[in-house]
Amino acid sequence: MEIGKSYRALRHEHTRKLQRDNSTTLHHPDEKINQIHKALNSHAIIANPKILELFGGVCNLTKEYSKLGQTIVIENDQKKVDHLKSIFNDVEVIKADSFIKIYEFLSSRKTFEIIDADPYGFPNRLFPHLFLLMENSLLFLTVPKPSVNILNGITQTHLTCYYGSSNPSLEDIIGQISVWGLCHWRKVELIDHLDLKSVWRFCFSVEKVKATEYTGVKNNSKHLTLPHKKFFFDI
Ligand SMILES: C[S@@+](CC[C@H](N)C(=O)[O-])C[C@H]1O[C@@H](n2cnc3c(N)ncnc32)[C@H](O)[C@@H]1O
Repeated sequence: MEIGKSYRALRHEHTRKLQRDNSTTLHHPDEKINQIHKALNSHAIIANPKILELFGGVCNLTKEYSKLGQTIVIENDQKKVDHLKSIFNDVEVIKADSFIKIYEFLSSRKTFEIIDADPYGFPNRLFPHLFLLMENSLLFLTVPKPSVNILNGITQTHLTCYYGSSNPSLEDIIGQISVWGLCHWRKVELIDHLDLKSVWRFCFSVEKVKATEYTGVKNNSKHLTLPHKKFFFDI
């Protein structure tokens, strides 16, 4: 062990090196690609789907997505953006922060049949609004396992904000993602999950539902609007 460096610092450096080298032990591209094909075999989506790949990286998944449909890739590292652009001429590669760029797609009312979010850290800040980009779609999502990653105080607080626990379990995370879907009336169902050492890789089906049908509540407009009308007439 290097003198003067903590275990946490050394482990962090090691992980960064694996990230730079596009290590398969960290990225698990084969497992992720198999999961995509398995999900598409069991879950029909329209031909020539619109695909949004957030956190594009070094094109392991872009290669697959570009064969499946019209693909947009978001990546914030200029070198990786240049690399992606040099390989694909039928893929739209955008240099941007994925957490921010999704709001531009929201304001232009875009929807996608497949969204892939494969960040290094937690994807929580994408939610719940990412679901507005999906109506009848598949979501592939990478989430680090809180219990095997060494969490500092900032990450613990971040997790408490998003999941109500500084160390949420697999069930807590899947449950919370479904709840975020319902914030925008999306029924979210887990159709597959992979255990990839330090991360989980999920595939969810996402379906836009009608609030009235989903909750079984009749939206009786007379009852809802009358008190407001009365209020305005009284002024
Ligand atoms: C896990 S890698 C993605 C690997 C990719 N799916 C592949 O298989 O090649 C995460 C990528 O997200 C990029 N990244 C990190 N923060 C980002 C952000 N806020 N917006 C967009 N890209 C980001 C990193 O540069 C890195 O390339």
